[in-house]
Amino acid sequence: MPESSPPPARPRVLSGIQPTADSFHLGNYIGAVRQWAALQEDFEPFFFIADMHAITVEADPKVLRERSRKSAAQLIAAGVDPQRAAIFLQSHVPEHAQLAWVLMCLTGFGEARRMTQFKDKSAKGGEGAASVGLFTYPMLMAADILLYRPQYVPVGEDQRQHLELTRDLAQRFNHRYKRTFRLPEPYILKETAKIRDLQSPDNKMSKSASSPTGIIEMLDPPSQSAKKVRSAVTDSGTEIRFDEAAKPGVSNLLTIYSALAGRSIEELEKDYQGRGYGDLKGDLADVLVDFVTPFRDRTLELLDDPAELDRILEDGSERAAAVASRTLADVYDRVGFVPRGPVRSAR
Ligand code: AMP
Ligand code: TRP
Repeated sequence: MPESSPPPARPRVLSGIQPTADSFHLGNYIGAVRQWAALQEDFEPFFFIADMHAITVEADPKVLRERSRKSAAQLIAAGVDPQRAAIFLQSHVPEHAQLAWVLMCLTGFGEARRMTQFKDKSAKGGEGAASVGLFTYPMLMAADILLYRPQYVPVGEDQRQHLELTRDLAQRFNHRYKRTFRLPEPYILKETAKIRDLQSPDNKMSKSASSPTGIIEMLDPPSQSAKKVRSAVTDSGTEIRFDEAAKPGVSNLLTIYSALAGRSIEELEKDYQGRGYGDLKGDLADVLVDFVTPFRDRTLELLDDPAELDRILEDGSERAAAVASRTLADVYDRVGFVPRGPVRSAR
């Protein structure tokens, strides 16, 4: 048997985001992308745009291409550093699709059907109308992850079940063939795993479910976002206190404030003692404007230079492919595929 590829010098971190909206929303940023930027300091980072996942539901080709580039620009504007991190498009590294096939062959039909995201997304038109791609989405996601043998996968709470399936598949492969995959750990920060809709704080902020006034789009004009914060739904009573059960609206605003201003919730509670909801919302609107203005400017600047953006993505996919191709070679060998190329001595 050939030697396995050596373990990486620094533990890796990997995550992906789908290019299915014109702008990241505040939940994407606070729940996920912010952690990516923080983790790149101590880990070898791989971050990608999941354009292949984006076609599991119907997507207009022109819009998809635009959103893919826009997502990459937003990652960089959010602080992901292309010097440190490999930033790439999923479709540029064909090993993702190749490993996904192998993993699909290890996944039980019933196991795949239990995925709650599939159940949710297929509920509208019925299972018969959903694409097979939507059904096998979690196996592609498992391939995305396992190819890079990361230690951590920073995501929001809604991806936890997919991470569990990924670990099960890794374990199954390791057990059936030979130890090949590292078991990845979800990296989900409890405090920010679920940013809520500003108008209906019982639900998460979501591009598919939120009303326009409940969601903060990071590329919207900052004054528009400030207005949404000022008219956010708060709770009965007057006290500014973090209590998710009794005060979901106020608690959500405190979570957002704390994340954007880098101040603890306790500190904010103390500051706002004896003050009203209006004060909190007004101040948070200012904090938000200070945050989204440079983010938006930087994104637009990057989009103004598509050649540079494409160069960053090309460099990222080369770095990614170097790792992915080694893992896939191990996998193909272990499942018993005959190697391509000149005849070699029998293994
Ligand atoms: P998506 O836009 O569904 O590809 O999500 C991108 C990332 O953002 C994933 O890691 C999600 O778990 C995370 N995410 C999406 N919505 C929220 C939210 N409301 N709160 C926290 N994280 C979220
Ligand atoms: N499914 C993820 C989402 O909707 C995006 C994604 C695709 C992903 N592949 C991944 C996230 C691999 C982490 C790791 O948010």
